[in-house]
Amino acid sequence: MYPAWFLPTLSSAFIIAMVATFHILPSHLATSALWFGVYVERKAYKEGRSEFIEFLKKFSLLVLIFCFIYGSITGVGIWFSAAAASPRAISALIHNYVWGWATEWVFFIIEIVTIYAYYYTFERVSPQHHMRIGIIYAWGAWISMIIITGILAFMLTPGPWFKTGGFFDGFFNPTYWPQLLSRTGFMFSLAAVYAMIAASRMSNSPAKEEIIRMASIWGMGGLIAGALFGLWYLHKIPSSAKDLMDSLVYLKHLLVICGVFGALVFVYFAVFGYLRPSLARGWLSVAAVIVLFVSIIAGEAFREGIRRPYIIGGLMYGSSQVIARDVPAKKVKSEVEELNEKGFLSRLYYLPPRFRTINDKNMIEVGRIIVSHECAGCHSIKRNGLIRPLAKLLNGMEKEDIEDILDSLGDYPYMPPFIGNEKEKEAAAAYLAKIAKERR
Ligand code: HEC
Repeated sequence: MYPAWFLPTLSSAFIIAMVATFHILPSHLATSALWFGVYVERKAYKEGRSEFIEFLKKFSLLVLIFCFIYGSITGVGIWFSAAAASPRAISALIHNYVWGWATEWVFFIIEIVTIYAYYYTFERVSPQHHMRIGIIYAWGAWISMIIITGILAFMLTPGPWFKTGGFFDGFFNPTYWPQLLSRTGFMFSLAAVYAMIAASRMSNSPAKEEIIRMASIWGMGGLIAGALFGLWYLHKIPSSAKDLMDSLVYLKHLLVICGVFGALVFVYFAVFGYLRPSLARGWLSVAAVIVLFVSIIAGEAFREGIRRPYIIGGLMYGSSQVIARDVPAKKVKSEVEELNEKGFLSRLYYLPPRFRTINDKNMIEVGRIIVSHECAGCHSIKRNGLIRPLAKLLNGMEKEDIEDILDSLGDYPYMPPFIGNEKEKEAAAAYLAKIAKERR
């Protein structure tokens, strides 16, 4: 085991969530933008509309800056925070999908080269060549989504991979196609609002309204497709995830928020894009991005939430990153019994010797270490923490009662069992009882 990244108030999960959800905006814009861009460009050449090219310059500059500065920074940020929070899970994914990521990075490079080429060669190369650059970008960007979605979906439903350990058996898993197609739909709605922002900076002309109307049609189509494939996704999630929705009602609320805010954006497209494009304003489109972002946050929080208690579905528990089952094809063995017998500390190679045997003097400190591994990935610790703080959940409880809770942890559908021997359980309970009595 690696040392735990312990953030008593925020929790490491919260940091990843912040970085990763923001990343959706630039990443999904990057994958969708030039499909719309090339569509407008083709129309521009065919109908001799030079104003459309003016729009495309603004739009592709927005894509270049937003996606390839903020998208790149947050993309690296996801690796950084996920590797610090869940090094074993990242390692397990890399061991299975290193060639998937390597392939994805090839397409990233294609994206980066071609977006610059696209932006800087307007009117410098022939229209055919320029559109070809745009098409290479559009495919490169979408293929990067095709690849990363396989790994994302694997984390919920490894499916036949459990039997075979095969790369593609895990990649084309039960939730792969609905998730890919749903993301593909939604990405067009994001391209559409950004196109409306870019168009709002054009001088008033019929071309401006035409672009806004075209964008809104793409946006509405994207939302409808995204929602339909999203329903298919809900149909394909494992039954354990459906049970989880019954015990954690907030997951259902997230779906409602996702749907309602998505519907608001649909109304925005319909009214300010399709019916009355003259009413569209830049600030309104920025507001629509924010509303769409709320919908996205809810959807992604749902997708992450239904994976509990695992960080990799059925294979590895969240927070502690202990392997939960055998996968003979990969020579992977469950670690639960072994750690319950030998103790969780037996695998914390980084621990100094004074913490290796628990006694009355070091009990609270060792308890803190165990809790930081086994709980802090999903819970803030302190009372003022942001994510279901343990001090509040265990408010004022005594050590013995907390030990009983630790015994029954595995009965909750959303939490892993406590892993470790009796002495370690006592130490964890002692530490939790201490923070449960702290006022702040
Ligand atoms: C995989 C994530 C995860 C891990 C790991 C985890 N929890 Fe939880 N825990 C949850 C979720 C989700 C809830 C539900 C909170 C809610 O209702 O909003 C919860 C709720 C609780 C509750 C309230 C019980 C209830 O009725 O819902 C307690 C107490 C608790 N956790 C203690 C712990 C302790 C102690 C640990 C570490 C040994 C731990 N949890 C590890 C996800 C986790």
